Amino acid sequence: MSFADLAVDEALLLRMSGAGPRYTSYPTAPEWKPFTSDDARAALERAAATPDAPLSIYVHLPFCARMCLFCGCTVEITRRPDKVASYLEALELEVSRTAQALGGRNKVLQIHWGGGTPTHLKPEELTRLFAILTRHFELLPGAEVSIEVHPHVTSFAQIDALVACGFNRISMGVQDLDPHVQEVIARDQTTEETEALVAYCRAKGMSGGVNLDLMYGLPEQTEATFAATLQTVARIRPDRLAVYGYAHVPWLKKHQTALEQYRLPTAPERARLFYVAIEQLSQFGYEVIGLDHFALRSDPLFKALESGTMHRNFMGYTTHPADEMLAFGMSAIGDVGGAFVQNDHDTRSYEARIRSGEFAAMRGIVRSPEDDLRRAAIQAIMCRMRLDLDELGREFSRDDLPAHFARELEELRPLEAQGFCALDARGVTVLPKGRLFLRHLAMVFDEYLRKSKPDGPRFSKTI
Ligand SMILES: C[S@@+](CC[C@H](N)C(=O)[O-])C[C@H]1O[C@@H](n2cnc3c(N)ncnc32)[C@H](O)[C@@H]1O
Ligand code: SF4
Repeated sequence: MSFADLAVDEALLLRMSGAGPRYTSYPTAPEWKPFTSDDARAALERAAATPDAPLSIYVHLPFCARMCLFCGCTVEITRRPDKVASYLEALELEVSRTAQALGGRNKVLQIHWGGGTPTHLKPEELTRLFAILTRHFELLPGAEVSIEVHPHVTSFAQIDALVACGFNRISMGVQDLDPHVQEVIARDQTTEETEALVAYCRAKGMSGGVNLDLMYGLPEQTEATFAATLQTVARIRPDRLAVYGYAHVPWLKKHQTALEQYRLPTAPERARLFYVAIEQLSQFGYEVIGLDHFALRSDPLFKALESGTMHRNFMGYTTHPADEMLAFGMSAIGDVGGAFVQNDHDTRSYEARIRSGEFAAMRGIVRSPEDDLRRAAIQAIMCRMRLDLDELGREFSRDDLPAHFARELEELRPLEAQGFCALDARGVTVLPKGRLFLRHLAMVFDEYLRKSKPDGPRFSKTI
């Protein structure tokens, strides 16, 4: 698909900017309620009823040596090795307790380690953590095993350890390569080290590919600086790219206040920066996958998009179909037994609860049948670019869906008029231009958003 097919301009991007969920879950996190250890155990016991269904595993490793001032992730800044050792012990307990609650259910199709910076761990710690997982869970052939790293702190020895474990995908934070922007955001990362790490991972046979994360809307970024970053990144040629809009949420992340002394791009400037990214990446041969994700045509994610087999979970877009996800570590979010379950986001209290024999769940939600139906509708739009109500009706044994979603289909009309989607007798198809605005299409099906007040939960900007 060419840039012209996208038919997008800055004015449109600006018009569509505003707050909106990313729908890595539905119901979204603001709707979740306090959850206890017993709630988490009950969810795992329900999940035990389908012993052969493959699982995904997410492990959260919150540690970083230094705080990047833009960071919106759940992190713990430390250089103390005993913190990592103690955390690994807690993870070991949590993994074995979870495996026990799942009975014999132990097949895994996808593992992802996120953070923080998982390569804050030494090579032998990475290997140990992997062994903890595989002691209890069986990795199926063809499984995707992936990790997020910060190139500046990641050594070749760590990559060797990861490859020996079987990691086959890697995602690296880049954000922006301009030296002045990096100085302002407190991130030092040369182009050379990123390039060398990508080359090393490829040479070592990380066959599943390399993703780089970029960010627009950072302080002091200009069209010219960002265009230069995009050109360099295109030369490094990752298989996939995420181009996130900087979420400035100083009421949640106090350290971001430090960035307010600089010039933060205005809404029109953000739209312009994202426009530059879409235009350039299209020229360099990247396809829009959905939202802010791009991939080369040779990447399995693009093939999954074309064949209607793409999936979406807390890791973002994926080619792997495991529906349920176990999550280990502080703040980690799982999706098991019809419930979302999030762990305590304070490392000390997470560890203390695990050590006392509990699960460390803090928030979550058991989905209702209506939640599951709407979730499936949202997934169809965001992953398959097509919501077919006949198909959804068969899946949920319902023949009243056109009437049930009559209001939603009506609300899609203005988005159809903008060229984002096309409605027909059986449902709705997302058009190429709409791939950039999937959040807006999905929001129509979000029952909670409809009920929420204008001053309700705050989401990040959609552009
Ligand atoms: C866990 S980090 C990636 C690995 C590693 N810690 C690093 O920074 O290179 C995940 C990604 O989240 C994105 N991110 C972090 N803070 C963000 C924010 N405030 N707004 C938007 N994206 C953000 C960045 O693109 C970052 O690469
Ligand atoms: S390295 Fe990544 S996770 Fe750590 S503070 Fe920086 S952006 Fe956040």
